[in-house]
Amino acid sequence: MLVMDALSLIRKPIEKELEQFQGLFASSLSVSNPLLKMALSHVLRRRGKMMRPILVLLAARCNGTVGEAVLHAAAALEMLHTASLLHDDVVDESDRRRGQQSVNALLDNKAAVLVGDYVLSAALQHAALTGSNRVVELVAWLGRTLADGELLQLSNTGSVEIDEASYFEVIRKKTASLFAVCAQAGAILAGASEEAVEQARSYGECVGICFQLRDDIFDYFETPELGKPTGNDMKEGKLTLPVIYAVNGSGAGSMRDLALKVRSGQVSEQEIAQLVDFTKQSGGIDYARRVMDEYRDRAIRMLRSCPYPEVSEALRRYVDFVIDRFA
Ligand code: IPE
Ligand code: IPE
Ligand code: MG
Ligand code: MG
Repeated sequence: MLVMDALSLIRKPIEKELEQFQGLFASSLSVSNPLLKMALSHVLRRRGKMMRPILVLLAARCNGTVGEAVLHAAAALEMLHTASLLHDDVVDESDRRRGQQSVNALLDNKAAVLVGDYVLSAALQHAALTGSNRVVELVAWLGRTLADGELLQLSNTGSVEIDEASYFEVIRKKTASLFAVCAQAGAILAGASEEAVEQARSYGECVGICFQLRDDIFDYFETPELGKPTGNDMKEGKLTLPVIYAVNGSGAGSMRDLALKVRSGQVSEQEIAQLVDFTKQSGGIDYARRVMDEYRDRAIRMLRSCPYPEVSEALRRYVDFVIDRFA
């Protein structure tokens, strides 16, 4: 199924609210400072898939209605995501995002960091506009957790341990936490019971883990539709689940040494290609897919008490989209 077909079915129960969100998001980021205006209109030209606001709105609909506060939470969380991408492309020295130049490539690192700070602060303002201290606290916690995850990932490149636990800690913090808070905040603001809030959080966390696993699998293949570079992880010294699994299998001694060389940044393109082939042949990609399926099933179990069939169906499609997406 085409990306847009799959997404439009997911968006169906919240179509109107998503339009309201779009209006709020764009008007909040309309500014007069010429450099900032130029950078933000570049960012707004390609809107991305909007997975996070869609999740906030669906989680709210699963527990009640979408009011003004929910729209502010969706804006806060999409802005925090956008700010983290602006900073991520500086950290990863990446020149493409959403099929166009990244802001660091269009302008420079200085401007991209500052625009990221601006968008991050706009996110905090929308969190405050929800009127919920609990949501403000969650969004602040999230900012810390995303940075914590990125820094853990950075220090992992200097480590000689190649283990799944460290990988999962990084992806829980840098990616799954954001999806978890999206679902949790939507549920809180719709007035859900504590039990339902916890189920929403857990659904979001499982989906977020699937999301990063899928993103990491993309990196092993040429995927022009993605609109951002692939094959970058190893170039950056980053080892993800497929290769971690492969080098921890038996008889992989020399490949383990090569993986450590990847971490040290002293590896050639040819050696990376060798390690990628080895990973594929050792079933590393299949393994990551199996792990993703386990988290998918866990996510779906959290939907059992959603009282609105069309919303729980959309959330089921949402996790399937995350796993099967091609962009
Ligand atoms: C990219 O997220 C960052 C990761 C967590 C891998 P998305 O793929 O959701 O980015 P956009 O917003 O659709 O561009
Ligand atoms: C994206 O991480 C940013 C966060 C998850 C905070 P990556 O560096 O893994 O993702 P892409 O591939 O650049 O989007
Ligand atoms: Mg990146
Ligand atoms: Mg990164």
